[in-house]
Amino acid sequence: MATTVSSKPQTVLDNAEALLPTGAACSPNELSLDHPARMIPIAPFFASRLGVAYCGDSLEILKALPSASVNLVVTSPPYALHFKKAYGNEHKDRYVKWFLPFAKEIQRVLTDDGSFVLNIGGSYNKGTPTRSIYHFKLLIALVEEIGFHLAQECFWYNPAKMPVPAEWVTVRRIRVRDSVEYVWWLSKTPYPKASNLNVLKEYSEDMIRLNRNGVRGTTRPSGHVIRESFDKIDAGGAIPPNVTESEFDTPESMMKMGNNSANDLYTKRCKEEGIKIHPARFPALLPKFFIKLLTDPNDIVLDPFAGSLTAGAVAEQLDRRWIAGEAVEEYLKAGTFRFQGFSQNPMLF
Ligand SMILES: C[S@@+](CC[C@H](N)C(=O)[O-])C[C@H]1O[C@@H](n2cnc3c(N)ncnc32)[C@H](O)[C@@H]1O
Repeated sequence: MATTVSSKPQTVLDNAEALLPTGAACSPNELSLDHPARMIPIAPFFASRLGVAYCGDSLEILKALPSASVNLVVTSPPYALHFKKAYGNEHKDRYVKWFLPFAKEIQRVLTDDGSFVLNIGGSYNKGTPTRSIYHFKLLIALVEEIGFHLAQECFWYNPAKMPVPAEWVTVRRIRVRDSVEYVWWLSKTPYPKASNLNVLKEYSEDMIRLNRNGVRGTTRPSGHVIRESFDKIDAGGAIPPNVTESEFDTPESMMKMGNNSANDLYTKRCKEEGIKIHPARFPALLPKFFIKLLTDPNDIVLDPFAGSLTAGAVAEQLDRRWIAGEAVEEYLKAGTFRFQGFSQNPMLF
């Protein structure tokens, strides 16, 4: 159940109920008292049972949010790409300066046990086969200037990434294919709310075999002590690594888990409506992992660079409330396709 509420933020009102049109599929009165649309005095673009999306500059949306009101920010801003996307990318030299005002607001709106998960891609320097370090500079500024703590550096393994820059990878053959993106897990305090029990993986065949055959206690050459209890598989699953990746291992299924899936409802509906598919989506798996790791049902998840509403749709599926901000109306419009028939089909993305 969802409704498009207004195409642009128009006026600042102090009563969120007045922002939502009457007679719509999800009328103002149907929104729960703790619906996130009630937190921001800006006209929303779209509201669902648990979330709300705003069209506009997210810096303004962030500024309108109360302090300490969001449990998790999970987002993928435009990277400092050499070959720019249609929505525009800040230059590497100006990137940190551009991003820090957003970061300052993100820190303010997070609860003390909240986390900020930032997916960011690397980039080559112009004219040479060398890499920029802009994303490392950003990480340092987020910690040293804004005051975030680095909870863990994580990675998104994306086997569907193109072998670029062609000059260095496929033409001159001097660099290898880039297939990871960085995911900085930052927190407001050193002890953010988190439980790896919420993201356990199935035990591997090796682990199951070890459990069957038993392990003799030993000390590895590295000095690590392997106890006889090492092989016990009674914790409900294996602790996942800090790499988000496909659970499948064939090249075809890996392609599916990249961000280029061609058969999901979002892509299909975009094609039907003749709307451009967002050029830089992250796979649902990425926000799903961190939402499960770092939040509980009914917590609030925010994506200020929301694109096609991937994070919002995952949050809704996981019964978390969500808020999204996106500058380009067309992306948001297409993002609403993810919510169509939501209750009938939970695998929409
Ligand atoms: C990498 S994309 C995010 C894609 C998203 N994760 C998804 O799965 O669809 C970054 C998005 O940030 C948006 N954007 C850039 N600057 C913005 C701003 N100041 N406020 C809101 N959105 C912005 C762009 O239009 C773009 O859609």
